[in-house]
Amino acid sequence: MQNFIDEAVEGFAHDHTEPESDLYVRLREETYREMNSPQMQVGRIEGRFLKMLVRLGGARRILEIGMFTGYSALMMAEGLPDDGHLITCDVDPKAEAIARRYFGESPDGHKIEIRMGPALETIKTLDGPLDMIFIDADKTNYSNYYEACLSLLKPGGLIVADNVLWSGKVLDPKSDDDHAIVEFDRLVQSDPRVENVCLTVRDGMMLAWKRP
Ligand SMILES: C[S@@+](CC[C@H](N)C(=O)[O-])C[C@H]1O[C@@H](n2cnc3c(N)ncnc32)[C@H](O)[C@@H]1O
Repeated sequence: MQNFIDEAVEGFAHDHTEPESDLYVRLREETYREMNSPQMQVGRIEGRFLKMLVRLGGARRILEIGMFTGYSALMMAEGLPDDGHLITCDVDPKAEAIARRYFGESPDGHKIEIRMGPALETIKTLDGPLDMIFIDADKTNYSNYYEACLSLLKPGGLIVADNVLWSGKVLDPKSDDDHAIVEFDRLVQSDPRVENVCLTVRDGMMLAWKRP
């Protein structure tokens, strides 16, 4: 993943963002030791930003598409009230085993429900209204996830999608993943049902607020 911001400036921003507890440090270290593509994990700045969005929006019900080893799910769960609920989806049992252990250890883990299986199938089983949805799974399904989820989102709810600048490959798309991200960005940008902003945080984050 390409950094859009000067490395030293990114480091300064990191050092001036609320630190994670030791549990997240251990989760990151284990993910980097055990998993392929550990850089998929969102990390401190994006994780804390997600938690902030949960807090600012007063979210109580969240859907995450793409759990991996659970870093972003735990960050968002921290921002939920004690009776809040986060459903997170994945297909990778190795990632699931790690996530489950850390959820079990965390004071916020009881707010998280894991749903294994292709996320498009899981979404069909869910009832709305949801307050917030975080899309961070296979890129070729981003537009499908968006369309499938939007009707579950409450008016005034927020969809957040990760990797929407895709290391800058959106400027010269070649692979299926590149084209899928460009198509998703266009879809959101032209959708009258939402107000959106495309942020240069980490690998790009799209925020889409559902109009009442
Ligand atoms: C970018 S990672 C998620 C990172 C995570 N949000 C974090 O911060 O640690 C993408 C995840 O999506 C999962 N995934 C891929 N295809 C999927 C599908 N069809 N349904 C559900 N999850 C899927 C992968 O197994 C992977 O763990």
